[in-house]
Amino acid sequence: MQISFVAPSDITAGAWVVGAGEGGALLPAAARADKASGGALSRALKVSRFTGKPGQMLEVLAPAGAKASRLLLVGLGKPESLDEKGLETLGAQIAGRLYASGETAASLEIDVPKNAKVKKAELAAHLAFGAKLKSYAFDKYRTKNLEEFEKKLKTVRIVSAEVAAAKKAYAGLDAVAEGIFLARDLVNEPPNILYPEEFARRAKQALSKLGVKVEVLGEAEMKKRGFGALLGVGQGSARESQLVVMQWNGGPSSKNKKSGKPIALVGKGVCFDSGGLSIKVGAGMQGMKGDMAGAACVTGTILALATRKAKVNAVGVIGLVENMPDGGAFRPDDVLTSLSGQTIEVLNTDAEGRLVLADALTYTQRRFAPKAVIDLATLTGAIVQTLGFEHAGVFSNNDDLAKHIQAAGRYTGERVWRLPLDPFYDKMIRSKIADMKNIGGGNSGSITAAQFLLRFIEKDTPWAHLDIAGVAWQDGEQKPTIPSWGTGWGVRLLNRLMKEHYEA
Ligand code: BES
Ligand code: MN
Ligand code: ZN
Repeated sequence: MQISFVAPSDITAGAWVVGAGEGGALLPAAARADKASGGALSRALKVSRFTGKPGQMLEVLAPAGAKASRLLLVGLGKPESLDEKGLETLGAQIAGRLYASGETAASLEIDVPKNAKVKKAELAAHLAFGAKLKSYAFDKYRTKNLEEFEKKLKTVRIVSAEVAAAKKAYAGLDAVAEGIFLARDLVNEPPNILYPEEFARRAKQALSKLGVKVEVLGEAEMKKRGFGALLGVGQGSARESQLVVMQWNGGPSSKNKKSGKPIALVGKGVCFDSGGLSIKVGAGMQGMKGDMAGAACVTGTILALATRKAKVNAVGVIGLVENMPDGGAFRPDDVLTSLSGQTIEVLNTDAEGRLVLADALTYTQRRFAPKAVIDLATLTGAIVQTLGFEHAGVFSNNDDLAKHIQAAGRYTGERVWRLPLDPFYDKMIRSKIADMKNIGGGNSGSITAAQFLLRFIEKDTPWAHLDIAGVAWQDGEQKPTIPSWGTGWGVRLLNRLMKEHYEA
């Protein structure tokens, strides 16, 4: 999708998209469109049930008098409630409607309603961002009926009285969209194509050219260093496990001991989770190509930060493995020695994500001494039971960090809900023979998983864990800005968090 920002002028082709407030009152551009079409909009309004509610639409085809191919009147709702994420939804709804219509070009001329809090440039940029997010498709494996799936809307012009400011505001958002698209692509790719080494290659390919330093540790390297937990998970796979370290140093020099410290993002990258010897049943295994969504989100976020040249030091560390059963696979009852030195009794090989994260977390803290560590993982089925598809679970040892993440979630619409950590739950992972076991056994599975991770956090490093098992992918298009399957969840939230709290 080609997006441009243009100053107001006559609309000579394509769809002319204009706005109305709650109650149906035409905003200035809508009034002009109405006039240009000899009152077609107001006549259509009279015979419709359009009331200007957010996302409501009224389409007039081939209006006599106007040069546009169609007029599309869009409801903006109450001006006070119009915010950035609402505008993104609107932009996506408009693009979605025009995809269905088969339109090829559109001009969005939506005025800022009186009493709205958003500024002109913001309105333009966030509408554009929503339209761009809607343009995502993953059709590379289709060979038939391509016409049917083609998204014909190719050019979107955002009409704004403040072109320069709108362009500037949009540049950062476009970088975020690219990060989201990378994350979605990685999640959507099938596991026979995207295994750990291929994921590492793609991360390198996407990020190196942006000035991100990308390092890849293979199995030999990790073995030497003692990544016993991560390697244990991967040992039943024909594919080699990998650890990818991505450094974006856009902030103060690392020589500056305090302000130079990076924010660390750590991702679970299980490229396929069969459950291992504690094998999943058929239905439960479907979709487990997406068990690397945490790693995909981290990679996409680093891409967004580097693309918009964010003034921040951020490091992404992702543990990439495939959890498979074979004669060499790790077993229930095995004891693994993690990189931290702590031992783990494995009682269920399907609780593998925490093992991968444990070593990735230790490595990250010891190498980078980060200001804060945030991990993202499709960690537990229990979080889907608890929060469904609307909130990710957040756990943290630091109230400020948790609050900042919650606020970023509210702003972007990627919402999170905080769940507790407590010594009581920690007791549930005591082992009879080792330092801990890898399952709690029974209830509060998301919490015991988080307690497990907390055991690998050193010296009160501010840490937050996001369990994204319910939000990383969705069946069917439940929200306008989110496609079916890989959602790219978390890129927007982390980008916002960086912007608000960590950028110079
Ligand atoms: N990758 C799964 C969690 C998951 C489940 C993600 C459903 C998305 C949808 C994770 O590795 C897993 O298998 N967790 C187990 C843990 C249990 C064995 C303690 C689970 O949640 O059942
Ligand atoms: Mn599992
Ligand atoms: Zn898993």
